[in-house]
Amino acid sequence: MNGFSRRKVLTAGGVLGALGALSLATPAGARSLWTWAPDESVAGTGAGVDPQWVWDDEADPVLAAVLDRGGISAINDQLATWTRNDQAPPAGLPADLREFMDSARQMPSWADADKLDRASRINSTKGIYIGALYGLGSGLMSTAIPRESRAVYYSKGGANMKDRIAKTAKLGYDIGATDAYLPQGSMIVTAVKTRMVHAAVRHLLPQSPAWTQTSGGQPTPISQADILVTWHSLATFVMRKMKEWGVRVSDADAAAYLHVWQVSAHMLGVRDEYIPASWDAANAQSKQLLDPVLGSTPEGKALTQVLLGIVAEIDAGLTRDLISAFSRYTLGDRIGDMIGLAQEPILEPLIAAAWPLLVAFREGLIPLPAIPAIAWTLEEALRQFVLLFLNEAQPIAISIPDTNRPA
Ligand code: HEM
Repeated sequence: MNGFSRRKVLTAGGVLGALGALSLATPAGARSLWTWAPDESVAGTGAGVDPQWVWDDEADPVLAAVLDRGGISAINDQLATWTRNDQAPPAGLPADLREFMDSARQMPSWADADKLDRASRINSTKGIYIGALYGLGSGLMSTAIPRESRAVYYSKGGANMKDRIAKTAKLGYDIGATDAYLPQGSMIVTAVKTRMVHAAVRHLLPQSPAWTQTSGGQPTPISQADILVTWHSLATFVMRKMKEWGVRVSDADAAAYLHVWQVSAHMLGVRDEYIPASWDAANAQSKQLLDPVLGSTPEGKALTQVLLGIVAEIDAGLTRDLISAFSRYTLGDRIGDMIGLAQEPILEPLIAAAWPLLVAFREGLIPLPAIPAIAWTLEEALRQFVLLFLNEAQPIAISIPDTNRPA
């Protein structure tokens, strides 16, 4: 991390320390009544229980027992050797954990190999939009999701927020890897490890005084509803923005992109009765789950600065204002204000005028000369961002935390 972004992180940390007490007063987002019907889900049926009160019945007791027994560092050493989808969980793991992993790594019966294959090809044609949207759209939006910001901030990974915040956005990108769900790929491993990390966090965070004081009465973090909120901030948001921008996505590609996210939700432990079966169902669920919970928190604002600090690392901060203005343009002023993005009165209108033209050109709808110069600078900055931040060759290294963020 260079001096510039480190300074930003430290400043953000200081502001956060000063505002810590304030977060007590920040109410959890108002939640709407759960009316989304299970017949809209991939299961097609279900009890209709509000997912706000459902966690992960299979993973949670196993990870709680594993954490209570201790020896996480040896378990993480074993887990580091588990990298391929077609690999059995390491024999040296405790029997209860291995048994859980063996069951959790099974793909759902409704997974469709053709759709997964089609989805993996979307990144090669639309990668710049998808990468920019995961990193600067979804990644930044996560800082306007109070429960996610606080869980991330007060868990062990919160001590290295840059690394932590990069991982959720990068997972979005890895889902689109060519071999994501093929035998030699690694998405099954990544999703099952993430599911175990979430289960560990459910056991650990309730022991954190800082988290319990800001949890708005939620007894255990990362409910099924919370995971779906994040899911919509990734999948549903990206599809909506691509359509809004005029990116040409065929119906078959849109269905394939939904499918890879449906499979990923299942592999992350979301019950099939909550996974939307169609984009219409997803949009309706997103309105009910994501829209009402967006809000401003000191933790979220600190995380925003960290994410923008990552961008500044790419070119010593030269394009930071441009990227910040693009993020504001993408997320809109309401979310921009919530997470403390700077106002960009000059750059934002320029981007609002230039970006649609750039998209139209890239989609073959208008000829070259109509593009203002700023669009190319922006495109180059986004390309660098996507290459360096999201598209690095190495898979996300995930280990189980055994403690919260140190006080
Ligand atoms: C950890 C992805 C939903 C809170 C992780 C990790 C990934 C991930 C890849 C592992 C990162 C690492 O090793 O540090 C996702 C995805 C989600 C999702 C794809 C939904 C689609 C959520 C939600 C919350 C949350 C809803 C909280 C409300 C956390 C926390 C950690 C974590 C606290 C552990 C951080 C640490 O201490 O290292 N998640 N996550 N996640 N996630 Fe999620």
